Amino acid sequence: MSLSQPEFQVFINGRALQVPAHCNVAASLQRAGLSHSRRSETGQPRAAFCGMGQCQECRVRIDGHDHRLACMTLVVDGMQIETQT
Ligand code: FES
Repeated sequence: MSLSQPEFQVFINGRALQVPAHCNVAASLQRAGLSHSRRSETGQPRAAFCGMGQCQECRVRIDGHDHRLACMTLVVDGMQIETQT
């Protein structure tokens, strides 16, 4: 029996990162050391808050689609994730 877990490679702002296959995008951002996922209209940094799809603070661009919820989206191999830095 192997104890190794499958991993996916995702790209966060163009940087490759290996993450567990069961990881969601919000957790991937945290593993990448990012403190926020987007900025408010006034430029304030915003990050995942509720973790259950309600607050909308974790929105990122995924594979070219804006306003995807990082907390509700599981990674897939090769996923392109873009934050507002
Ligand atoms: S963390 Fe609140 S919607 Fe994603």
